[in-house]
Amino acid sequence: METLTETQNYVVKDISLAEQGRKNLAWAELQMGGLLKVRQRLSQEKPFAGIKIGLALHITKETGVLVRTMVAGGADVAIASCNPLSTQDDIAAALAEENVKVFGYKGETDEDYYRFLENVIKTEPNITIDDGMDLVQIIHQKYPHLIPNIIGGAEETTTGVIRLKAMEADGALKYPIVAVNDSKTKHLMDNIKGTGQSTFDGILRASNVIVAGKTVVVVGYGNCGKGVAKRAQGMDANVIVTEVDHFAALQAAMDGFRVMPMAEACKLGDIFVTLTGNKHVIDTHHAEQMKDGAVVANSGHFDIEINVAGMKERATGVKRVRPFLDEFTMPSGNRIYLCAEGRLVNLAAAEGHPSTIMSMSFMNQCFAAEFLLKNRGQLEPKVYVLPEEKDQEVSKLQLEAMNVQIDTLTPEQIKYLNSWDEGT
Ligand SMILES: NC(=O)c1ccc[n+]([C@@H]2O[C@H](COP(=O)([O-])OP(=O)(O)OC[C@H]3O[C@@H](n4cnc5c(N)ncnc54)[C@H](O)[C@@H]3O)[C@@H](O)[C@H]2O)c1
Repeated sequence: METLTETQNYVVKDISLAEQGRKNLAWAELQMGGLLKVRQRLSQEKPFAGIKIGLALHITKETGVLVRTMVAGGADVAIASCNPLSTQDDIAAALAEENVKVFGYKGETDEDYYRFLENVIKTEPNITIDDGMDLVQIIHQKYPHLIPNIIGGAEETTTGVIRLKAMEADGALKYPIVAVNDSKTKHLMDNIKGTGQSTFDGILRASNVIVAGKTVVVVGYGNCGKGVAKRAQGMDANVIVTEVDHFAALQAAMDGFRVMPMAEACKLGDIFVTLTGNKHVIDTHHAEQMKDGAVVANSGHFDIEINVAGMKERATGVKRVRPFLDEFTMPSGNRIYLCAEGRLVNLAAAEGHPSTIMSMSFMNQCFAAEFLLKNRGQLEPKVYVLPEEKDQEVSKLQLEAMNVQIDTLTPEQIKYLNSWDEGT
């Protein structure tokens, strides 16, 4: 049984970790110059005054910086985690000491996970911010009476957006949502660069295996898969990609990777990473054919990409060999090493994406909340994408933070680009 520090306003692992949390928040802020610029503006304009924002995001130092930014903009914030293994306990403690309603601890039980989400919902938020759509789902299923007071929501990840679009198509979605994931400065940065680096951070912290010379099987060549495949190549691995989409498979082949079905790849891989947002993309029969010592990890949103339950059933033995690494002995005698119980490896076994990446994602979250407020009452219960200018604004702020300057169009060039009568 966990011993927790619990009050009406927060449930955290240990409130005495707050000092370390403040140090980590300061370290993250140093790398999140773009978001701090947004904070500066929000703290003057206070657009969130009187607004309750409920978040279900990974409680990391970067999310802590987002929370502080929303509070600076006048919001009353409550937060729970969107994954039972991703909470950084020192950050949760620091936020609790800053009077944020925070509910979460690393390794929370399923029961606590849902209790904490409901704690956030019971604050009756006007705006919900999800990573995976849990708040939206629970509100629609169990708390529909709160919907009239909800201005809208924002969604951080691909899997959440897919689920929300399915809700919209069914006519089940009852309030507007901004798909933050679909902004270019989110999915072309966070999903590619962030997941590329942090997925290996997680696999290496869990297993400490060498990547060079190994065969790395990347399952799914979407944005996340592209980032991971490129990092694997950069670390001198042989990379195999598996796909179900013809164009994505073609891209992988044209990027120089071997492409084949999982039925073949499962026999060749030393390290497997799933990034599909789909279910059982590594199934029990694949695991049974893997080499002795294969390392298997998931970096997709939910823990169903690898059929862990099926592997458990078939295994003749399962044991934890070190934190975030479990050994499954398969009927052949081969041992398979599963990272972080098949949950998001970068957030469970490491710290998630580096701060600079999250600065871009979270500038978009702030803009999404402002967009919902500016268009209050005028949006339909649909999934929206932020206007293109917002990608430009995030890029500009991020470039400034990186001290990178660019050129500007001359009047002659502007005229040329807007004309059709000038040829060679
Ligand atoms: N680890 C993280 O921090 C992190 C960050 C961003 C997104 N995500 C999550 O990662 C997952 C992937 O996100 P994305 O943005 O790359 O999505 P995406 O839609 O761009 O790519 C997913 C790819 O997986 C492929 N796929 C689906 N089923 C497959 C199967 N059975 N075998 C092989 N390939 C299959 C699809 O064809 C697609 O190309 C989602 O669950 C998303 O929420 C995780």
